[in-house]
Amino acid sequence: MSDHVLRCRVNGEDREASCPPIRRLLDVLRDEFRLTGTKYGCGEGECGACSVLIDGELALSCLVPACQAEGAEITTIEGLAPEGMLGPVQQAFLEHGGAQCGICTPGMVLAAEVYVRGGGGADPDRIREALEGNLCRCTGYTRILESVVAAVAARASGGGS
Ligand code: FES
Ligand code: FES
Repeated sequence: MSDHVLRCRVNGEDREASCPPIRRLLDVLRDEFRLTGTKYGCGEGECGACSVLIDGELALSCLVPACQAEGAEITTIEGLAPEGMLGPVQQAFLEHGGAQCGICTPGMVLAAEVYVRGGGGADPDRIREALEGNLCRCTGYTRILESVVAAVAARASGGGS
């Protein structure tokens, strides 16, 4: 199969890569664009580690063929910290111990970002529901939950995104 030239916007920049059309977007992001914040977990759509935003929607980049991302606006975890400044959800994870090994963290943070930006509240059940596609082997989820509650509070007080 001949290569396809993928053109898209990633974290606000125009990017392109030549790759087989069915190459996983996850691999293009990590290997071609060197955005290694997006993690490989299961490769089967089960863990959420590879989550990115595509046109503002949470998507599992291990299940997205590169050709499907043509023309898309993609946000990776790096895009939440322009110029190295942590976004409010990232800051909440940092302050509340929401990350240990960090493999799940980029996907967790992006899922939490969508939840918080969407006006989600501090109800633990709603937060669990919003993050149910993201698995963590380390934290037991309590600190992740606390981090999202803190991010919700920060947004409510005007400090959120
Ligand atoms: Fe994509 Fe696990 S690596 S869902
Ligand atoms: Fe290690 Fe979540 S912090 S998998």
